[in-house]
Amino acid sequence: MNTLIKSLTEKKKSCLPIWFMRQAGRYLPEFRKIRLKNPNFIKLCFNSKLSSKITLQPIKRFDLDAAIIFSDILIVPYALGQEISFQKKKGPKLSNFNLNKFLSNNDKKFTKELKPVYDAIKNTRKSLNKKKSLIAFVGAPWTLFVYMMGLKNDKNQINFKLVKKNKKINLIFNKLNKYLCLHIKNQINAGADVVQIFDSWAGLIPNSYLEKLCYKPNYKLVNFCKKNKIPVICFPKGIKKNYLNFLNKVKPNGLSLDYDIDPHWANKYLKNVCLQGGIDPKILFKKEDKINKEIDKYLEIFGKRPYIFNLGHGLLPKTNPETVKKMIRRVKLYK
Ligand code: CP3
Repeated sequence: MNTLIKSLTEKKKSCLPIWFMRQAGRYLPEFRKIRLKNPNFIKLCFNSKLSSKITLQPIKRFDLDAAIIFSDILIVPYALGQEISFQKKKGPKLSNFNLNKFLSNNDKKFTKELKPVYDAIKNTRKSLNKKKSLIAFVGAPWTLFVYMMGLKNDKNQINFKLVKKNKKINLIFNKLNKYLCLHIKNQINAGADVVQIFDSWAGLIPNSYLEKLCYKPNYKLVNFCKKNKIPVICFPKGIKKNYLNFLNKVKPNGLSLDYDIDPHWANKYLKNVCLQGGIDPKILFKKEDKINKEIDKYLEIFGKRPYIFNLGHGLLPKTNPETVKKMIRRVKLYK
């Protein structure tokens, strides 16, 4: 059993695995080189050979315990018929949502559309050391819904009245759940051994809607992973102390902490779960002694329980790869 799966499934701590969200990406010069020659990001995600190569780039450079497949949460709405464009500094924008078009999809067409991603997972698994996990991922329905409906403005705020007014939300969430389960299943069949569910915009949901829009949809996906005997990590970013309600209702194997969560609070209240991450990715722009202090703080707080070292969100584009290397070395040398 590899260290990531051990940490996610065993009650007692026996190891300290490390990987990073967005470890394959823009902070790596070798990624930027490929990206320059491939201006269409979605096309790049569908290039099995290159996406497998990009997945392995951080593994070649660093002593990491897991690879995460180079892809995006938005390839699901793309496969379901929405075009995606990336605007500078504004993030991704999807073409208008069309319910009839969305409902006209079927499983066979969906799987065929995403075959290059599954081929990339197969290729990557072949070249990846057996001791390392290959992480598959999906976006949670709410986070995908935010992009699909174009709900977010440039300041990362949403008009929740528009959500309340949407009478088709149950229908859309149920369909999304079906395709996300299929995407998970296809990724597992291709060779992924751990799943992470990103609910990056869970923090935009008012408390009274968390049950319906966050806990329930995440629970359905977690249950699906459990039925398929694949450990699953959830990342309900931005929900603050509701992490405790989330844990009690969703019960994933792993819970990824965002940088707003106080690690002492998490260690005290979030029981019987493997915790992951937590440190603010901006720490990597600070001086070495400050970074080391923060690493040691987290390792000490979570020293007695299963913990996966990671950050409280993805690595930022301006991060220096050498600083990442030093962080990994310090975690690996920690006793
Ligand atoms: O290294 C990895 O983590 C694997 C690949 C991965 C990407 N996106 C590649 C990517 C993963 C796991 C994601 C998840 C993702 N995508 C999330 C959830 C995690 C999070 O960050 O909260 C979200 C919300 C998205 C949607 C998305 N895709 C955005 C907002 C953007 C643009 C800005 C950004 O964050 O980079 C993307 C594009 C994207 N996805 C890039 C990469 C490497 C940048 C592409 C480029 O311009 O070179």
